[in-house]
Amino acid sequence: MSVALHLSSSRSLTRMRLKRAATPAEAPLTDEQKRLIRDSYRKIEPAIDLVAQVFFRKLFALDSSLRAKFSGPIEVQVRKFEAAMKLTMITLSQDDELKPTLKLLGVRHRQLGIRTRHYRMMAKALIWTLDQSLEKSFTRETRAAWTALLDKITRTLA
Ligand code: HEM
Repeated sequence: MSVALHLSSSRSLTRMRLKRAATPAEAPLTDEQKRLIRDSYRKIEPAIDLVAQVFFRKLFALDSSLRAKFSGPIEVQVRKFEAAMKLTMITLSQDDELKPTLKLLGVRHRQLGIRTRHYRMMAKALIWTLDQSLEKSFTRETRAAWTALLDKITRTLA
């Protein structure tokens, strides 16, 4: 085999490996997905207290054992939900810079007994809440964008 042929076939092998490594779940969010997420968050932000209460009701309906993990009055939980949502929005523009903070937050969550299955449950409850809150404007593309974002955060936190 000539060197040129050898090089070109090994390059295409590398391309194939890179292609396989970038599965849809690991692909970075596109600018359009980030826009859809920001736009939808802007719509629910004025009613964030209500959205948080709907979210917790759904989360506890999906897994009542989680209720015990959230101590303190609902107002405190609502503020923490808001903080979590704001942090999630910030990750859209400052991905790498936030990694150490997210890792630390992940440690805190692990200490609280939060495991990967709980993140999946949270994602399910949040997607359901967004669907209920945004109705028609929660399009298939917006849902896919939020799902991708929550998958990404779960991989860092869990
Ligand atoms: C997108 C993923 C998440 C983000 C960004 C996030 C963010 C946060 C933040 C900022 C806090 C406050 C930190 C503190 O009090 O030290 C917090 C606390 C907490 N989070 Fe999360 N969280 C996420 C997912 C989850 C999930 C999936 C669960 C469980 C279902 C969970 C359960 C808790 C609990 C139990 C607390 C403490 C509440 C308390 O003090 O009573 N979090 N989270």
